[in-house]
Amino acid sequence: MAFTIAIDGPAAAGKGTISKAVALHFGFAHLDTGLLYRAVGAKTLDGTDPIAAAQALVAEDLEAQDLRTPDVAQAASRVAVIGDVRAALVDFQRAFARRAGGAVLDGRDIGTVICPRAEAKLFVTASAEVRAERRYQELVGNGTQTSFETVLADVKERDTRDRDRAEAPMVAAKDATVIDTSALSIDDAISAAITAIEAARG
Ligand code: C5P
Repeated sequence: MAFTIAIDGPAAAGKGTISKAVALHFGFAHLDTGLLYRAVGAKTLDGTDPIAAAQALVAEDLEAQDLRTPDVAQAASRVAVIGDVRAALVDFQRAFARRAGGAVLDGRDIGTVICPRAEAKLFVTASAEVRAERRYQELVGNGTQTSFETVLADVKERDTRDRDRAEAPMVAAKDATVIDTSALSIDDAISAAITAIEAARG
C-alpha cells in the first residue's frame, strides 16, 4: 500500500533527522530530495549546464561524497530556481512517493507541488539563529573552518532565495502540521512528528 509523508521546511530546521526517524518508525523508505538539487548544483560547479545536468541525473549521483558542503548548498539553491531543472526531477520524486510500502520525502515543495495529495504533511521550521547555530556546530564538528556569522548569512540567503522564487517556493501547505523545533529537543520533535502522522493515518 502506498502512503506518502511530505516533510518540508527551511535548511537545518531538523527535517532530515525527523524524516529518518519517522521512516524508521513506520518502516517506510526515505528520500532526501535536497540531494537531487545538491547533485545538480555540484555538477554546475565544474561548468555543466544545470538543465542538462538535471535531465541526465541518475540515482548513483546522489551517492557523491561532497554534496554536504556549503558551496554545494548554495549551488543547489541557485539551480533550484530554474523551472526546467525542477521539472526534470518531478517524475523521480513522484515515483518514489507512491512506491509500495510507504515513503517519506523531505524538501521544500513536497506537500505543495510534488505530492499535493500526500496522506500526511509536516512543515518543520525554527528561527534562523537556532538553525544557523545547529549548522555551525555540525560544520565545526566536521572540521570545517567557518564562523557563526558566515553560517547565519548563508542560511538567510538560502531562505530568501527558496522562499521568494517563482517556481515552487518554500511555503507550508495549507493542510500541513507546522512543527517549530526552536525550543524542542530532538526526541520531542520526533514525537510531535509521529503524533501528527498517526493522526493523519486515522
Ligand atoms: O534540503 P537541502 O538543504 O539539502 O536543499 C538544498 C537546496 O535545494 C535548498 O536550499 C533548495 O534551494 C533546494 N531544494 C528545493 N526543493 C526541494 C529540496 C531542496 O528547491 N524539494
